[in-house]
Amino acid sequence: MKTTGIARAHTNIALIKYWGKKDKALFLPMNSSLSLTLEAFYTDTKITLDETLEKDEFYLSNVLQQEAETQKISKFLDLFRIPAKETRFARIESYNFVPTAAGLASSASAFAALAGAMHQAMEWDLSRSHMPAQKLSTYARRGSGSSTRSLFGGFVEWNQGTNSEDSMAIPIDDASWDIGMLIVVVNGAAKKISSRVGMEQTVATSPFYPAWVESAKTDLEEIKTAIQEKNFTRMGEIAEFNGMKMHATMLASQPPFCYFEPDSLVAQQQVVYLREVLGIPAYYTMDAGPNVKVLCKASDLDKVRDHFKQYFSSEKLISSLPGEAMRTLTEEEWQESIQHFNQKGI
Ligand code: DP6
Repeated sequence: MKTTGIARAHTNIALIKYWGKKDKALFLPMNSSLSLTLEAFYTDTKITLDETLEKDEFYLSNVLQQEAETQKISKFLDLFRIPAKETRFARIESYNFVPTAAGLASSASAFAALAGAMHQAMEWDLSRSHMPAQKLSTYARRGSGSSTRSLFGGFVEWNQGTNSEDSMAIPIDDASWDIGMLIVVVNGAAKKISSRVGMEQTVATSPFYPAWVESAKTDLEEIKTAIQEKNFTRMGEIAEFNGMKMHATMLASQPPFCYFEPDSLVAQQQVVYLREVLGIPAYYTMDAGPNVKVLCKASDLDKVRDHFKQYFSSEKLISSLPGEAMRTLTEEEWQESIQHFNQKGI
């Protein structure tokens, strides 16, 4: 017997960062975080549970993946299969709609799409649950922490909770009040220190880490108020402050490490120039890599991008509006998506 599930999930960028785990196996974070889901980057995934398969097969962008990559996915699908005594193996087909040069991690959208496709393939009836997407976010979390937040669109909190059942995403606001983001690709190559390893080293060795956890709590409360009041300036100030504090913990870890590259600083300086000299409200944040994400108003996106063109080539500047929640796709939508992928050659 065969059953299928197909889902699309968008990636997200944290404005209040998740940095550090208190439980590595369960992906329970040290602090709650908050992000903006992005329209421009997403993953489409189809899962076919098929009793004739002898092992899981994972195809990424039409290419059959090696054992190591497939094992990560199998382990994730087992979170669904084992408790349900589901014995079928799966064919997993995934397409990342993230420009290759973007250097943006796709794990957030990848695990959220996998969770969405898998619950459908398992024929779970979540209609009676009063919070189906929240429940699914607790599964996505165990693939990659940041993917917890990709179950919802707009501004999303990942409430750290107290255990594996309640450490979940909460939709905060649909971000439909003139919000945009420009991604400045400083270096598209894979990062040298993964976020997983980087956060572990920071928690273990940085004397700044306890201060980070404490101040992230305050930042989260304040940014939620700013979002509620649609106060863009306040929201941007808190996001920029929070992001840089996270990076400061790494400089103080042993051995110290840093994701900034010279052009990351150029981009940061230009964001400051935009707001202080040109009067365009814009704020920056960075994750576990050198790329800079500029939070600005959607109506200013073109102006902001034009300004950055003086320093970066066009293909390194990707504009995005807020993205939507994870959703399941029809077979027809899936076929269109593959066609789109193959034509674009992303
Ligand atoms: C800096 O979610 O990639 O982007 O849970 O180990 O998979 P794992 O880490 P991951 O870490 C993201 C860290 C960050 C901040 C954030 O997205 O909140």
